[in-house]
Amino acid sequence: MATGMLHSHTLFVVLFTLIYLIKTILLLSDKEELLEKFKKKTKVAEMIVSFGFLATGVFLITQVPEINKFMIIKLVLVFLSIPLAVVGFKKKNKILATLSFFFIVVSFSLAYKSKGAKAGEKIVAVNGKEIFTDKCALCHGDNGKLGLSGAKDLSVTQLPHAGIVEIIANGKNTMAAYKDALTAEQIEAVASYIETDLKGK
Ligand code: HEC
Repeated sequence: MATGMLHSHTLFVVLFTLIYLIKTILLLSDKEELLEKFKKKTKVAEMIVSFGFLATGVFLITQVPEINKFMIIKLVLVFLSIPLAVVGFKKKNKILATLSFFFIVVSFSLAYKSKGAKAGEKIVAVNGKEIFTDKCALCHGDNGKLGLSGAKDLSVTQLPHAGIVEIIANGKNTMAAYKDALTAEQIEAVASYIETDLKGK
């Protein structure tokens, strides 16, 4: 549900930004008539998109365990850009309209920088392969067979699922414990990756 919400939010943000981009370009290029036409035509769509954008955004914020500074900057920028845009387009003030668009774009890119702000990050399915390549391939190799510094060949492991999870969480001999570096969900994901993609290959 939260993942779907994140996707809807991204979609709304993209649509919202697109409408604003077109309006800003029209305003900047003095195409006033066209701008009025476009505003009329997209009025309802814009209302729906703005509402969806804010509603999904608010929902996602309630899902984040902890609000970080990126998210606060992002929220401030979004809420600053709205009155700027309203005034900018009403008064046909190019500077205000451009500034407003700029704020939207900056907050958009912040969303990708900030960790927690990708509200769905914890929610979005974790990728076992990515974790393996990042943290485990160093000793075990991409195919699990490298065996560096005594690492066991994972393609022939006889361990049951719980055993694999246990070793990843608590480590063994030269292999470090990962229970602090990875969430339980990530450990599950990487264990499943070993079992389905490396074992027996
Ligand atoms: C510093 C090198 C190193 C890294 C990095 C490393 N391992 Fe290991 N791994 C080992 C060693 C060494 C062993 C053998 C431990 C023993 O049995 O003495 C091992 C054993 C294992 C086993 C048990 C296999 C068996 O059949 O007994 C699993 C499962 C495993 N590693 C998974 C992982 C995963 C998943 C990661 C990444 C999150 C990882 N390892 C990262 C060195 C490493």
